[in-house]
Amino acid sequence: MIHVFRFLKKRPSKKRTTKESRNMTASTCDAQTPSTSEITTKGSEDSSIRHRTDSNGRRFRDDVAYVLPVDDTEMDRVHQQHWMLKVLFDGNFKAPVESALEEGMQVLDSGCGPATWTLELANTYPKSTFHGTDISSNFPKTIKPANCNFYVHNITERSEFQGNYFGFIHQRLLVAGLLVDDWEKVLQEHWRTLAPGGWIELMELPVAKTVNIGPKLAALFNIFVEMCKAKGLHWQITNHLEGMLERLGFVNIKVQEVELPINHESTVSKLAWEDMLDLYKAIKPVIVKSMPELADDERYLEYLEACGEECNKNKMFGYFYRIWGQKPPTA
Ligand SMILES: C[S@@+](CC[C@H](N)C(=O)[O-])C[C@H]1O[C@@H](n2cnc3c(N)ncnc32)[C@H](O)[C@@H]1O
Repeated sequence: MIHVFRFLKKRPSKKRTTKESRNMTASTCDAQTPSTSEITTKGSEDSSIRHRTDSNGRRFRDDVAYVLPVDDTEMDRVHQQHWMLKVLFDGNFKAPVESALEEGMQVLDSGCGPATWTLELANTYPKSTFHGTDISSNFPKTIKPANCNFYVHNITERSEFQGNYFGFIHQRLLVAGLLVDDWEKVLQEHWRTLAPGGWIELMELPVAKTVNIGPKLAALFNIFVEMCKAKGLHWQITNHLEGMLERLGFVNIKVQEVELPINHESTVSKLAWEDMLDLYKAIKPVIVKSMPELADDERYLEYLEACGEECNKNKMFGYFYRIWGQKPPTA
């Protein structure tokens, strides 16, 4: 298992040429599924999308709420995070959809990022068709399974997917991208496009929930939380998802919260620390605004290293949360 882990750890990093970037559009390659133009074309990555590069050289979207970078380095982090979460939760989903996936159904991965989850499931369940959406086209454009389609789409807007279409909707880690008012809209849209009897599964991070956090890492956590609050993000969304799903009419709702050791001795805890390290490297300019004494790169890395040692010594834990529920067959 560890061997597989390490092997899969880094996504081959592909630098895009200007020509490839210009040609990026929503992509589809499966004749059984609606064509791109029938679904979501307005989000195709084009000149209306604004990016900014921060003082750290990291690339961000400048026209949406999402606060994390959308560059290749971040996609490597998200890709690696997938394998960590798969081990932590002992699988890729918990909703009871295994046999429907084997028989064949339409699946949405909302905010799919580099699409590691989407691609893995598309390979495992060849009779099902997978649709990944994201505001940035970091998903594969050409080399992908035939049962996979990807679309540039802002999930806070109505999609062009028809109603009652999907048997399963999966959405993971949008806490850094959706504002307080966005969540109801996004979930209403999922309700609309989910078929009666279909399942939704959401995984999120209870941002500030920790055990045994030391003062050095706590200082970084506080800055991250303040940034989320200042941007209007729903950083405590995990406290609200169950009520939101109930109000929409979902049934058979179940919740699972799993403790994640950070930088103890296990492989998963080492991956968790690497993930956190990459995250704090990505938002260095935000941290340095509040802690200017860390502006120097070497000083910043030393501080992060000290945070890692603190986690190890204190036996620190973070948490991940997932919730799944069903649209009633009679809805
Ligand atoms: C932390 S990544 C998680 C990616 C993927 N769900 C996973 O777990 O591997 C969050 C993703 O959400 C996307 N995102 C953020 N805001 C979005 C929005 N409003 N609409 C669509 N995608 C969005 C980002 O571009 C990024 O790829």
